[in-house]
Amino acid sequence: MIKNTLLPVAEFCQRRKNFIAQMPNNSIALIAAGKEVTRSNDTEYPFCQNKHFYYLTGFNEPDAILAIIKADDVAESVLFSREKDPLQEVWHGRRVGQNKAIKDYKFDNCFALADIEEQLIPLITGKTAVLICQNEQNDFQQQVLNWLSQIKQASRTGAKAPTTLIDCNNILDEMRLHKSNAELDIMRQVNVISGAAHQRAMQQSQAGKFEYQIEAELLHEFASNGARYPAYSSIVAGGDNANILHYTDNDEALKNGDLLLIDAGGELAGYAADITRTFPVNGKFSEPQSLIYQLVLDSQNLAIAAIKPGQTLAELNRIVCEFLTKGLYDLGILQGNLTILIAQRACKKYFIHGLGHWLGLDVHDVGDYHASAMREQLRPFADGMVLTIEPGIYIPSTDKSVDEKWRGIGVRIEDNIAITATGFENLTVNAPKTIADIEALMAD
Ligand code: GLY
Ligand code: MN
Ligand code: MN
Repeated sequence: MIKNTLLPVAEFCQRRKNFIAQMPNNSIALIAAGKEVTRSNDTEYPFCQNKHFYYLTGFNEPDAILAIIKADDVAESVLFSREKDPLQEVWHGRRVGQNKAIKDYKFDNCFALADIEEQLIPLITGKTAVLICQNEQNDFQQQVLNWLSQIKQASRTGAKAPTTLIDCNNILDEMRLHKSNAELDIMRQVNVISGAAHQRAMQQSQAGKFEYQIEAELLHEFASNGARYPAYSSIVAGGDNANILHYTDNDEALKNGDLLLIDAGGELAGYAADITRTFPVNGKFSEPQSLIYQLVLDSQNLAIAAIKPGQTLAELNRIVCEFLTKGLYDLGILQGNLTILIAQRACKKYFIHGLGHWLGLDVHDVGDYHASAMREQLRPFADGMVLTIEPGIYIPSTDKSVDEKWRGIGVRIEDNIAITATGFENLTVNAPKTIADIEALMAD
């Protein structure tokens, strides 16, 4: 059960302080909230807050704008948000309003969006630089440029417009990459909820059921434990469907003798879990399935065991590629000279995606993977970073280069790992993954 689904407001205040410390003097940062997105006609998708905005505010309403001001004698955060409106609130839900925003979210000031030009333009005027998150919302960038034009048009009155536009994505990406203890605690909780959902899926799996019925079991478990929405569309892929990496149709019947690959995680307080498990629909691995499965599992354990501060994703990839290539060679799936196969990273024919990615407020979280301009993922791991480790082997049913017994097998195993001061913590603690544990759970 959930202990605490929200971060304390002090954590958001501290983030704004840390952000201000990285702003140039005499500048203003303007960060926009997300917008509601129409699904069709007058219905909307469930609202998802812009994650940079959420990271700095914890404020979950659409359309708001955060202004952070840094000057010699000022460091303050001002929110612009929707006004209280009894009629709108009766139809669409409660709004926080300005007074409560100041009180509960500790902004220095808050104004209604209707007053934004009157209040914000004086705050921008005279600053040297404006910081915005470029490439996210082009409409918002255009709006900022319009405000700058308005200030320029008033230059005869002495008004000075900022001359520098700075992209602050890098600052926020880097801040988000390093998780605090409170963030890690939420990520532990959402992993436990998501692990329970994978257990439930294993227990409910049965030939003849449809993939979407298993998806429903996952969503039930997420939502009934406080993770109301999945962090991304759940992949429930029986048999050969597992060989479609982002399979989300989830509309076929499960077949006796097939594997079922499930890649699914809940979202809690904005934070994602991203867990994959692969198991037999009927609860018992066939021999070829168990051989591929064990190879993937051993490669994952090898990678996880090598995680510590200073380690790199490039090195983990090298370890896993060598191990999988040798394993596929031993099974007769890859043929030729083993040394050459390893040098060529021959396993990539069947391990067709990356080994892992940062995880946090986004499932594919922000943060640079590179230590330099080189494309290799050589950034040294540090305490507080969280990433997935997700090796896989995919042998489509159409692959005539391998013995028939391997065809249609697709296996991925994915855990969420936090880097600690001395090594790692596997956050994925309750989703069974040894063959014995999976078969025992499914036999119950
Ligand atoms: N669920 C998407 C991924 O594993 O990257
Ligand atoms: Mn992943
Ligand atoms: Mn995944």
